[in-house]
Amino acid sequence: MKVTVFGIGYVGLVQGAILADAGHDVCCIDVDQNKIDNLQKGIIPIYEPGLSSIVEKNYAEGRLTFSTNAEFGVNFGELQFIAVGTPPDEDGSADLKYVLKVAETIATHMNSSKIVIDKSTVPVGTADKVQAMITNVLNERFLSSESQPKFSVVSNPEFLKEGSAVSDCKRPDRIVIGTDSEYAEDLMRELYEPFNRNHEKIIVMDVKSAELTKYAANCMLATKISFMNEMANIAEKVGADIEQVRQGIGSDSRIGFQFIYPGCGYGGSCFPKDVQALVKTSDAIGYESQILKAVEAVNYSQKNKLFEYICQHYFPELNHQAVIENKSLSGKTVAVWGLAFKPNTDDMREAPSRVLMDSLWQAGAKVQAFDPESMEEAQRIYGNRNDLGLMGTKEAALNGADLLVICTEWQSFKAPDFDNMKSLLNEAVIVDGRNLFNVQRMQQKGIKYYSIGRTPKQMN
Ligand code: UDX
Repeated sequence: MKVTVFGIGYVGLVQGAILADAGHDVCCIDVDQNKIDNLQKGIIPIYEPGLSSIVEKNYAEGRLTFSTNAEFGVNFGELQFIAVGTPPDEDGSADLKYVLKVAETIATHMNSSKIVIDKSTVPVGTADKVQAMITNVLNERFLSSESQPKFSVVSNPEFLKEGSAVSDCKRPDRIVIGTDSEYAEDLMRELYEPFNRNHEKIIVMDVKSAELTKYAANCMLATKISFMNEMANIAEKVGADIEQVRQGIGSDSRIGFQFIYPGCGYGGSCFPKDVQALVKTSDAIGYESQILKAVEAVNYSQKNKLFEYICQHYFPELNHQAVIENKSLSGKTVAVWGLAFKPNTDDMREAPSRVLMDSLWQAGAKVQAFDPESMEEAQRIYGNRNDLGLMGTKEAALNGADLLVICTEWQSFKAPDFDNMKSLLNEAVIVDGRNLFNVQRMQQKGIKYYSIGRTPKQMN
């Protein structure tokens, strides 16, 4: 089938490449000439395991093309994916200007029937807006509705996770198709046939339900995490061990083990944005979502936890606001391992590391940071500042630092040489936002260890 994808961001590029790899002809359109030039040279704008070889192969074999020519793109595919960004605007609502601009572009150039597919995460009701935009433009272009090319707007949310986007996209748990048109359903089924082998993964529903499914999924996952972080905070206060609690509750298959890992808060491009956007949608229709507001509030305070541990370590009598106001950490250097919001990505959007570093800088500390993939991203975000050292190795980040904070659970952080670590750090102190190490082992090694929801037991 011939497919056009508008927006070569994370979702658009992965989806386009995987569809081409399954044999479809895919034309990817983006307004960013530089991005298109790079893709044509085989330079991928994001770090995603396994993606670049798929892009290269399908580009070389001619099934995957890249262009800034929107008119060409509209005429290329009967299926038109909208996969542009929906950044939060000032009040946290999803900003639809890019989505509606693509809808307008499609309507301006289309001369044959099209299925327009919302792939971006968009609030409930967006398909109606896309529909209205296309109808308005077609009404301007054509005198009678009979002479207009036909179109149908489909909601087809993506559920891919950064770091495993290629396999999520190749082997989806489910393929949600929101449509009220049998014709559109039929074409969508044909498109996804290569991914619907072995057992039925396609779930067809009405458009609004499909739009809400995406938010409900992400908000449920964010809720699990914030719930668990709240349990961790309670565990700390009562002297329980959240890791044991996690195993205890995860073994109940109704709860399950996934997304109940406590930590220093969820980040990334989806959970924070989608929770906020659904809160806004609810508020706008006069329904106050108390759970989602609490999920957001817990996550906000959880991202401050690492800084609070540092304050507790040095100034147990001060609250963290006072540490900032007095610049009490002046002269201290903090090693930070992990800048990305999670492993296997270079993405630092809404990452807990950023909240930590901002507080450290406000309190007068310097940071020596290392991440296996995000060093360029950190350079792009922070530029050159004399209170940030972007170090080439995890050991270099420790060298001469006063303590270590772990923000991301990269595999390469999980079994460090603790003796070497102690010789490099000024003090043997680790603040661990991802519970990588055994609490008793840290005690044996003489390392002061702060982690989430765990208290060291007194040893005999
Ligand atoms: C998420 C959804 O999983 C995906 O289905 C959707 O399409 C996009 O949003 P992503 O943002 O890539 O994917 O990352 P994910 O692996 O879900 O992690 C999100 C955040 O939650 C990370 O910061 C991670 O560290 C945190 N997390 C995850 C926890 O703190 N605890 C957990 O148990 C799981």
